[in-house]
Amino acid sequence: MGYMENNFVIEIKNLDVKINNKLILQNINLTLKEKEIMAIVGPNGGGKTTLIKTILGFYKPSAGTIKIMGKQFQKIPKGLIGYLPQKDLINYNFPILVYDVVLMGRRILKKFLEKTTDKDKEICLDALDKVGMSGYLNRPFNKLSGGQKQRVLIARLLAMKPKILLFDEPATGLDVVGQEDFYELINKLKEEEKISILMVTHDIGVISSYVDMIACLNRTIHYHGPPEHGIQPEILEKVFGKNIQFVIHDHRCATCRGFSDE
Ligand SMILES: Nc1ncnc2c1ncn2[C@@H]1O[C@H](COP(=O)(O)OP(=O)(O)OP(=O)(O)O)[C@@H](O)[C@H]1O
Ligand SMILES: [Mg+2]
Repeated sequence: MGYMENNFVIEIKNLDVKINNKLILQNINLTLKEKEIMAIVGPNGGGKTTLIKTILGFYKPSAGTIKIMGKQFQKIPKGLIGYLPQKDLINYNFPILVYDVVLMGRRILKKFLEKTTDKDKEICLDALDKVGMSGYLNRPFNKLSGGQKQRVLIARLLAMKPKILLFDEPATGLDVVGQEDFYELINKLKEEEKISILMVTHDIGVISSYVDMIACLNRTIHYHGPPEHGIQPEILEKVFGKNIQFVIHDHRCATCRGFSDE
């Protein structure tokens, strides 16, 4: 199996994606290894969300291949990939407890009307523990802060026991402390749960200290490698073009401000 040979949990080759006959992604080549955190950066409309949705099978490639764990799937098996969509700090419009939100992660894996078991409960409690939210078990989800909701939604994904997590702009809307906590959490999940993580972010400053690889995407991949090299101004300018000022000014941490002063 390809997966055993090269450790790629995601392997994308020569991928084109068209939406309404318009080429949105062109000749994408990208790999995510086991136990790797990769950040996808790029300008608005660059195709980041489209790439994530294509990996999940929401869009069909018009050319090229995507292998997940060494296999080309017609349909991705339930629970293999956990996905947190862009701006998903939802309020359920009915009252629901934190525990029941996490339990949804188990229900997804079951047949309609199939009962949840003690084992499911154990997995949910464990997932809440992993994200540091065990103390909130019986709290109403809607009353949590944005950062706490995000942790619970991550616990819901962990309850599916995924191999891969895809996050679309998870740091948006979190304050600096919340963002650091988030990056520490995903590093813990990588180390302890051996989960590979692909995330979209605009937060170039934070990236270098918390991610293993970056991919700069603007219709195609302009850079794929360790962050140290990719954060060179030439590469950023090539990918972001005129938006580069916007991106740099969007940074909130001291390191980023240091970078923009250079
Ligand atoms: N369902 C759709 N129908 C038509 N066009 C779409 C659709 N989804 C995406 N597009 C187009 O594809 C391009 C890429 O969009 P996408 O949402 O993937 O960008 P993005 O990099 O995630 O941007 P952002 O940073 O704003 O989230 C845009 O030009 C967008 O208008
Ligand atoms: Mg997007």
